[in-house]
Amino acid sequence: MRTFKITERITYIGVNDRRTTLFENNWPIPYGVSYNSYLIKDKKNVLIDTVEYGSDGEFLDKIESLLGGKALDYLVVNHMEPDHSGMIKSVLAKYPAVKLIGNSKTFELLEKYYGVDKESFMCINDGDELSIGEGTLKFAAVPWVHWPETMVTLDLKDLVLFTCDAFGSYGTLDGGIFDSDYNMDEILIPEMRRYYSNIVSKYSQMVTRAINKLSGVEFKVIAPSHGVVWKEAPARVVGLYADWAAHKSEEGVVIVYASMYGNTANLADRLGAMLHNAGVKNIRTYDVSKTHVSYILSDILRFKGLLLGSCAYNTYMHPMMEHLCNEIKIMSPKNKVMGIFGTSGWNGAGAKAIAKFAQEQNINTVLPIVEALGAPTESKISATAQEFVNNFSKAVKE
Ligand SMILES: [Fe+2]
Ligand SMILES: [Fe+2]
Repeated sequence: MRTFKITERITYIGVNDRRTTLFENNWPIPYGVSYNSYLIKDKKNVLIDTVEYGSDGEFLDKIESLLGGKALDYLVVNHMEPDHSGMIKSVLAKYPAVKLIGNSKTFELLEKYYGVDKESFMCINDGDELSIGEGTLKFAAVPWVHWPETMVTLDLKDLVLFTCDAFGSYGTLDGGIFDSDYNMDEILIPEMRRYYSNIVSKYSQMVTRAINKLSGVEFKVIAPSHGVVWKEAPARVVGLYADWAAHKSEEGVVIVYASMYGNTANLADRLGAMLHNAGVKNIRTYDVSKTHVSYILSDILRFKGLLLGSCAYNTYMHPMMEHLCNEIKIMSPKNKVMGIFGTSGWNGAGAKAIAKFAQEQNINTVLPIVEALGAPTESKISATAQEFVNNFSKAVKE
């Protein structure tokens, strides 16, 4: 049975999911994802969150085996999204006396999702403490990280902070579960950034608020419900999340284009080369019709410059670029330097539509827009493109 001890009292009982192709039926997870759950054994036995329904046939067996015939007293519901709450009904069926711990908003969702009644529920408030024997649990509300009911739970004895989605990541835990078991920079930090940009970024203000709230809290281990348990360097993950939430970015430019017949793609590559010649580092260029927006958003979060280009399509931008723009709107990146380019047969509709989008989103746009009717030949674009590259490279390096 796959379990790992975090401390004498606390055991990891999570699961790896490599079967799901798209997380939330939207985001590709080539490295899979883990749903982490934890069991605290004390005078009162406590389960911290569950796993997605059906993701682990052994989940209940793990609990039973670890409890060794003792009762499960509490189930802390830090977050109600079904990737963590999916096994609540099964846990209740096996341990009918278990009390589900959450706040008033948690209960509303428990009722709606699983028909849980009040008798099974223990309502706590922000800052409440609960003695479970040798240890005490302390609860802190962190609303909108990433649903309204989300909270974190601190085990005051072992100083393990259970944070659910906060400080989470895509990527399974292959072998060990701790940060010290991995070269984090290889796969898991990039996957964490992608997870943040896809799932959490919209709530960055709330993330900053939550980090500020936790700044005075002493903890040794961060145990999220996706990704590694941070035992060696918990400050690192807090720092990464704080930087992403503050929209800090690196020098670099993400160029994304939508092109039907290659003209806008050609312009994208030429602008990339011109930016390189102007001394801009870290240029990443994507065809939005090919690379999933999940990866593009991760680089948009990472780099300061954003250059969007589209052909005209039914007097608007290309539908795949429209999809990206919608995701950018949800992600709400700040402090970006944006540029626009496009090609069209007669009316420049693609670039115009992107410009309107940037204006609506209050994204700082560097002019001029680089446009061509038909093929973007040197004589059509060179003067405008050079002026744009001069302005844009200066703004990105500032
Ligand atoms: Fe969530
Ligand atoms: Fe989650």
